[in-house]
Amino acid sequence: MEKFVIRGGNPLMGEVVVSGAKNAAVAILPATILAKGKCVIENLPNISDVTASVDILSAMGAQVRLLNKHTLEVDTSHITGTVVPDELSRQMRASYYFLGALLGRFGQATVAMPGGCNLGPRPIDQHLKAFTAFGAKDSVEGGMIDVRAENGLRGEEVFFDTVTVGATINAMLAAVMAEGTTVLENVAKEPHIVDVANFLNTMGADVRGAGTDVIKIRGVKKMHGCTYSIIPDQIEAGSYMVAAAITGGNVLIQNVIPKHLEPITSKLEKAGATVEEFDDSVRVSRQGDIEPLNIKTMPHPGFPTDMQPLMTALLCLAKGTSIITEGIWENRFRYVDELSRMGVNIQVAGRVAVIEGVHHLRPAPLRATDLRAGAAMVMAALAADGVSEISEIGHIERGYEDIVGKLQGLGADIRRVSKPETLLRKAL
Ligand code: EPZ
Repeated sequence: MEKFVIRGGNPLMGEVVVSGAKNAAVAILPATILAKGKCVIENLPNISDVTASVDILSAMGAQVRLLNKHTLEVDTSHITGTVVPDELSRQMRASYYFLGALLGRFGQATVAMPGGCNLGPRPIDQHLKAFTAFGAKDSVEGGMIDVRAENGLRGEEVFFDTVTVGATINAMLAAVMAEGTTVLENVAKEPHIVDVANFLNTMGADVRGAGTDVIKIRGVKKMHGCTYSIIPDQIEAGSYMVAAAITGGNVLIQNVIPKHLEPITSKLEKAGATVEEFDDSVRVSRQGDIEPLNIKTMPHPGFPTDMQPLMTALLCLAKGTSIITEGIWENRFRYVDELSRMGVNIQVAGRVAVIEGVHHLRPAPLRATDLRAGAAMVMAALAADGVSEISEIGHIERGYEDIVGKLQGLGADIRRVSKPETLLRKAL
């Protein structure tokens, strides 16, 4: 069985370089379908969710060439199919972006109900609300979602009932070549929403307002290939910020956009860490105690839900009681049983977790229950007094490029039992 073996206790020191944003990459790769041409995508993270997106593109007839470790050329000129194979789309949540991209180019798409992290119910009603507003009909049969617009797509006003990253992006993908103007209201504002909008505009779309509550899209007749570099990963950066804070280390985290990290920076400072911001890096260190906190996760610019398990890990060592309220997902505390094995008392009631901090974390055999929970286990193990083992690390490798190498570079005692393959290469 593949696992991480971590001897905790080393304060992390040095520099680490953050990879491209997973949640932008998994939208931008399907979006290349709209170009009907060649796109060169730079700063792609070398993670298994990217491999899965590339596998789908290849299976649909795209020609994909690896130009270097983080750059792919994707030629979508000759894609003809509009059905994403079931076994490929189940590999990750973000396969739903193929719905918007294929619908936008061909007026039809069939994709299996997506897989990904189990965080409670993950409906896609708001995605379908946008597609049907644009004139598509949808049906769900045998676990496959089918959308088709027999008379073409036309722009429309859509007010989302809830703020959703996935539906905001999917609606943009479907609307960029629809006839007329689309206005999307109550949209998500995450940094990767802006990145996807910038990518679409670089391919010739006319998308305005991304990063605010309202996005306006004037449909264009045609889009084209381009070269685009993905933004740095906000959550990977935040994870190394927590790694520095939890181990009482001092780490320079490079290739970040400090503005995107503000909600994380502000909570880490309140927890007793020192965060210095530079143009494209932040330095995080901690010498004193970890202070308890109250945190509620919210859509951007609130505190990101994807950092919630990592902050819980940090607050296990706070000198007092912390309260974390999960504002996005119904069931994102499944991992606390794992942390309890390390000697912490965490009580969960619905969407609220109460964490009583301890002086020391005991090493334990731990399980990565999902991607960010897995990263939280790594952080807790780095701070524990002894050797912990983390199983089901496939979840972690879906979203963190070379986490072992990066942590070793900071002085962590971590190894992966069984050697990883170069994931992007494996896909090609
Ligand atoms: C994205 O998921 C991310 N995944 C998640 O990150 C992240 O936790 C989430 O956004 C919130 O920031 C990707 O980008 C691939 P949503 P997504 O649509 O798009 C409800 C990670 O760890 N909702 O913003 O699926 C939904 O139930 C992953 O990297 C509807 O009700 O999330 C949730 O409560 C885990 N109807 C809320 O909206 C819909 O049609 C936000 O979901 C869609 C969503």
